[in-house]
Amino acid sequence: MRHRHTRGTAFRLAALVAVIITLVNSVIFSALYYSLSAQLTAHLRAHIDEVRKTLVDVVGNEKDGFQELSTMIDSHARVAKSDEDIYLLTDETGKYIAGNVASLKPFEGWRAIPWKDLNLLGDWSPHRASDAVIGRWTPIKGGHLFVGDGNGDIRDAQRLQLNGLLWGIALSVICAICGGWFLGIRAQRRIGQMEEVLNAVAGGALDRRVPRGTASDDIDHVAALINAALDRLQRLFENLRQLSVDIAHDLRTPISRMRQRLERVRSGADSIEAYREAADASIAEIDNIAETFDALMRISEIEAGARKNRFANVDLKILLTNIIDAVEAVAEERGHRLKPLRAAEGPSIVYGDRRLLNQLFVNLIENAIVHCQDPADISVEIASVNGAPAVRVRDTGPGIPADERERVFRRLYRLEKSRTTAGNGLGLSLVAAIVDLHGARVTLSDNEPGLIVEISFPSV
Ligand SMILES: Nc1ncnc2c1ncn2[C@@H]1O[C@H](COP(=O)(O)OP(=O)(O)O)[C@@H](O)[C@H]1O
Ligand SMILES: [Mg+2]
Repeated sequence: MRHRHTRGTAFRLAALVAVIITLVNSVIFSALYYSLSAQLTAHLRAHIDEVRKTLVDVVGNEKDGFQELSTMIDSHARVAKSDEDIYLLTDETGKYIAGNVASLKPFEGWRAIPWKDLNLLGDWSPHRASDAVIGRWTPIKGGHLFVGDGNGDIRDAQRLQLNGLLWGIALSVICAICGGWFLGIRAQRRIGQMEEVLNAVAGGALDRRVPRGTASDDIDHVAALINAALDRLQRLFENLRQLSVDIAHDLRTPISRMRQRLERVRSGADSIEAYREAADASIAEIDNIAETFDALMRISEIEAGARKNRFANVDLKILLTNIIDAVEAVAEERGHRLKPLRAAEGPSIVYGDRRLLNQLFVNLIENAIVHCQDPADISVEIASVNGAPAVRVRDTGPGIPADERERVFRRLYRLEKSRTTAGNGLGLSLVAAIVDLHGARVTLSDNEPGLIVEISFPSV
């Protein structure tokens, strides 16, 4: 089915090119044909005019001029056969005097008379290409003179041109068909490859890619775009699969914990107090699970870009100062030192969603507070990178090893040593989603010791 369609398209392309070439060829050749024919006809007439003039001059004003012309024409007529020259001299009444045709009706101006309409005298062999005689009558003293010449030369030239035209068309049509066919087949083959790959991907083979051609043409460009889209699709799909596994895994632990506790209470508890305690613990566990789901849904919502319409200009200086004021007490309670905001000269306005940006920086500062077990220095600064603002949150805690710095952005992912701290492993995922929504970039680096998180915004 697909192959028939493939050939059909290639053939249509080839046929179209052939038709266009034929048309263009025909127009050019017709123009040449008519201009050359006109030129040759004019040439022939000029030649005949010359002969007429010479012959008319012979008659002149002399008494026996007519007689002399008659003799001359007779001798001309005798050798004229090979030249296709036609002469006829008549007297005033139209009676034959001399020449190589017996009779010819008088007419005005130039005319082409077919050979078969001429009463040729003597024995004429078949004429070359010639099919008519071009000539005209001239009145002379004492009678009329007709001089004509065969159109063989003109016909020869025309036939030659016609041959050229036909060969030209035949050759270009063959070239067009071969070329068009070749190009069409090639293009269709590449499109066929894409079709096949896309079908395979639709069938579940997410790792298939369109082979790249050697020519960097339009089709290759499209192939590259398709491959890029497939790369992204595959990445998203794998993330999704990983996420389902992670969620299932993460929920199992609190659920089985809850179950064990409830079982224990049911078989061993002897007081209302013990039941109440178990119920409270279970409720806390369930709240935690619900929170995790809420956070997951928020991240998805942000990733879908649903909140872009709430964007406005946000001054990072004000935003960060407020956050630091709000969390300072918590930090101190844990023994950390949260320093006042440092802001470099330069822009501090970004275009974004104020509440999400607030959440982003709260998450980062909270991470520093929570994941630094020992008292640490925590600082926040606004720097100017290439004319755009960048926020750095630093701490002097344990930091994140270089090979984990990509993974901590995965949903539900937590470092092994953080398993016992409060949290659900979604803080940095939310940060990444918010950063993406704002067209910003997040990078983790080493504070030696500790962690530096840098959020660099695009220039407004
Ligand atoms: N400032 C930090 N210092 C050390 N480790 C950190 C810091 N911030 C994040 N991490 C590590 O990255 C992991 C993922 O962080 P996050 O997504 O916020 O999850 P959560 O804080 O709920 O554990 C944390 O579990 C922790 O191991
Ligand atoms: Mg966190």
